[in-house]
Amino acid sequence: MCGIIGIVGRSSVQERLIDSLKRLEYRGYDSAGVAGVVDGHVQRRRAAGKIKALEDVLAADPLNATVGIGHTRWATHGGPSTKNAHPHTQGRVTLVHNGIIENYAELREMLKADGRTFESETDTEVIAGLIDSELASGKDPVAALKAALDQLSGAYAIGVLIDGEDELVMGARKGSPLVVGYGEGEMFIGSDALAVGPFTNRIAYLEEGDYVAIDHDKARIFDANGKPVKREMRTVAASAALVEKGNYRHFMEKEIHDQPEGCQRTIAAYVDTLAERAAIPGGVDFAALERIQIVACGTSYIAGLLGKYLIEQLADLPVDVEIASEFRYRDPALKPGTLAIGMSQSGETADTLAALRLCEAKGMTTAAVVNAQESTMAREVDVVWPIHCGPEIGVASTKAFTAQISVLTALAVAAARARGQIDAAEEQRLVRVLLGAPRLIAESINLEDAVKAVAVEIAKARDVLFLGRGPMYPLALEGALKLKEISYIHAEGYAAGELKHGPIALVDEKTPIVILAPFDSYFEKSASNMSEVMARGGQVVFITDPEGQQHAPAGARVVVTAPQSDPLIAPLVMAAPIQLLAYYVAVQKGADVDQPRNLAKSVTVE
Ligand code: G6P
Repeated sequence: MCGIIGIVGRSSVQERLIDSLKRLEYRGYDSAGVAGVVDGHVQRRRAAGKIKALEDVLAADPLNATVGIGHTRWATHGGPSTKNAHPHTQGRVTLVHNGIIENYAELREMLKADGRTFESETDTEVIAGLIDSELASGKDPVAALKAALDQLSGAYAIGVLIDGEDELVMGARKGSPLVVGYGEGEMFIGSDALAVGPFTNRIAYLEEGDYVAIDHDKARIFDANGKPVKREMRTVAASAALVEKGNYRHFMEKEIHDQPEGCQRTIAAYVDTLAERAAIPGGVDFAALERIQIVACGTSYIAGLLGKYLIEQLADLPVDVEIASEFRYRDPALKPGTLAIGMSQSGETADTLAALRLCEAKGMTTAAVVNAQESTMAREVDVVWPIHCGPEIGVASTKAFTAQISVLTALAVAAARARGQIDAAEEQRLVRVLLGAPRLIAESINLEDAVKAVAVEIAKARDVLFLGRGPMYPLALEGALKLKEISYIHAEGYAAGELKHGPIALVDEKTPIVILAPFDSYFEKSASNMSEVMARGGQVVFITDPEGQQHAPAGARVVVTAPQSDPLIAPLVMAAPIQLLAYYVAVQKGADVDQPRNLAKSVTVE
């Protein structure tokens, strides 16, 4: 979950390390550090807190190095303190690490028995200790690295500096991604293409178990058995401009506003606009499928749930959706004829990746709906269905969510047609509706001022309930998740029909209840729930559309009226108000919108 960068440069690396760490901050941000070779010796600078704190340390005590490594941390072993911040040093070895070393306690005892002492509570320091011990036994740096890696179990990506080696950075990966960047007389390693994006777009992805040594001109890559290997160099698009905030205050605000374009680009990739047909790349025969199994975490899981509503209703194809961390450990009954789909913005989420590998091992066809097209998931599955919303930086997912839903909607239409559930004319109608979604999403985002006013009230609440029926139920879950994530207000999303089975006990004058109810086939039932809540003094925020507004029972405290839309795209159109609500509540509370406490954008540990 942490971010790594390593540079063998020709000029000073301090600013470049920081620049890269800022791009990697989405992977964790509770402490940061850099190290560099100065006059043949490795020096470190570290700080608890955000990268700004590290910048202050460096301003007072610059690192005059042309070779260095950097790290931004999301704590697993040991709290977020300077002492636990990476890089960690043992003897001649200084390194940064992303992942978890499962046998670290055992290794630590072993190294302690050899007379080593440890400065931190991390699992990382043992890797440095192991490499240093191997160096002390006379091995060269690359052989020492390999010997140390052979003793580790767990997941890692690492970047290593050796005291006395002023033209060497080493790296290794197993379970966590690492890329090699090729510059002009300079070489890089990094957690992803974004990390090395400002320096080069020529990149090679290390494979599971690979390790590497870079100098100014080349990368020597070895596989897990120590055999020298070549990994294909590709040119990737990780343009620096894509990750600027522009005129927005926060990335999340920008990304909410990016949604019409992100969905438009995504939809365009999944429909044939001329023929007005759904066109899903990858050659999956939806007519032959017996079932779809979706696995995902967080917001991607909620997008998957929406997929179930859409695909089952339109295509009469059974869809199971499961949280990846549950699925992977519970011995699910997996049958041939099932297509496994992983939903993941990052394409690196450890549990989703493992769930897909399980499906693969059981002989199922695997697909992934991902944003990061160069991610591990994208490279491992049989079929990649990319979303095209651009890099998402805000920890709370927004534009990736609606882009994922866009793909699943197109997929539902394609499956419906393939399975004879709709005819060509209906397919055309649905595709036209889908193509109209970006415009309506834009209109929905224009509700910003109305939502801002509601947010002032919600910011005072201790608990908030989100209710919805049908596809609005997953959206209610997403509304609650967004609010929890960035404003730290306790929120629950419920199927409105479950109201009487528990949550109604929470209803009082102090608990705002957000009801999501466009004028669809569920509307009357949702309106009854609204009356039940109001009869008990509940303060309702009713998010509906113009028809729903006309038919709503009187008495809702606030009505937010999103544009009228076909039910097919209602989830896309209704998403913006709940995202904006969470955003403005967090802003109102002065919370750190883009980097909420304890969370990370890419969860590469289970
Ligand atoms: C983290 C992020 C969420 C995201 C989830 C799944 O919890 O904070 O925004 O939804 O991981 O990530 P993925 O990259 O697999 O979609």
